[in-house]
Amino acid sequence: MNKSFPIGIFDSGIGGLSVLSKIQSQLPGESLIYVADSLNAPYGTKDNLIILRRAIVIVDFLIKHHQIKLLVIACNTATAAAIKELRSIYSIPIVGMEPAIKPANEASVLKKVGILATEGTLKSSKFSALLDTYSGDTQFYTQPCVGLVELIEQGHLESKEIITLVHKNLMPLYEKNVDVIVLGCTHFIFIKNIVEDFFDKKVTVIETGSAVAIQVQRKLNEFSLENNGPNIQRIIYSNSPNENMDKIIHSILAANKFEYVFYSNWNEEQ
Ligand code: DGL
Repeated sequence: MNKSFPIGIFDSGIGGLSVLSKIQSQLPGESLIYVADSLNAPYGTKDNLIILRRAIVIVDFLIKHHQIKLLVIACNTATAAAIKELRSIYSIPIVGMEPAIKPANEASVLKKVGILATEGTLKSSKFSALLDTYSGDTQFYTQPCVGLVELIEQGHLESKEIITLVHKNLMPLYEKNVDVIVLGCTHFIFIKNIVEDFFDKKVTVIETGSAVAIQVQRKLNEFSLENNGPNIQRIIYSNSPNENMDKIIHSILAANKFEYVFYSNWNEEQ
C-alpha cells in the first residue's frame, strides 16, 4: 500500500462534508476523495442490507478508481448498519462513527442528555450496546428526527420549514430539561445553530467530526500510512445534481480547494 494513496470518505449525502472538513484540517497532507450518495438519501429509514449494498458499490468505486488506503464511513447510520460486514470484506482500515454517548455523559451536569439521530441509528443493536456501555448515570432521551435529512439534502439550511421541524424534535427534550444535545447524524451539523438558538445557548452541543479525524490519524500511524503531500488530490463526488452544492461545499470547507464532480454512474451492476 502506497502512502500517497487517498483516504476515501462516504455518506448518504452532504452530512459527511463536516467530517471531511475536520479530516482536512487535521491531515492537510492527505488526498481526500468524498462520495455523497445523495440519490439514495436518506439511509436512516432503509434496511441494513440495502445500506450495505450501497456501501459496497461506493467502496468498490473508491478502490477501483482511486486505490484508497483507508475508508471513513462519515455516517452514523451506515456505520451501525454495515461496518462489521465491510470490515470482513475489505482489508483496508475502516473508521466509522457513532453518537458521542461517553463524552455526553461526562459533559452533562444535570445528567440528562438528548440525542438527535436517524431512526436506523437509534434502532440499531450497536446503539443499544453503546448506551449500555457508556451512558453511566445519565438519562438519555432520543429523537429520530423523521424528514430532517431530506430537508437538509434539499438545501433547506435556514428555512421556516426546517426550523419548525427541528423545534418539534427539540421540544420533548426541552421538557425533559436536558443540558447536552448529541448530534448523532452527520447531517445535523447543519442545524447546530438552530439547536443552540432554541435552547438560548444554554445547552452543550456535541458532534463527533473532530474525534473521527483524530481516529483517522491514529489509524494511519498504526499502519505507517501517513502522507505529507505535496501533490494532493481533493474530490467530492455526488450522484444527485444539487444546485446548492457549491454553496454548501464553500460554507463548510471554506477556503479549501475541492473539485466537485457530478457522477451518475453508480449502480449495483457495476
Ligand atoms: N448522515 C447520516 C448519519 O450520520 C445518515 C443520514 C441519512 O441518510 O438518513 O446518520
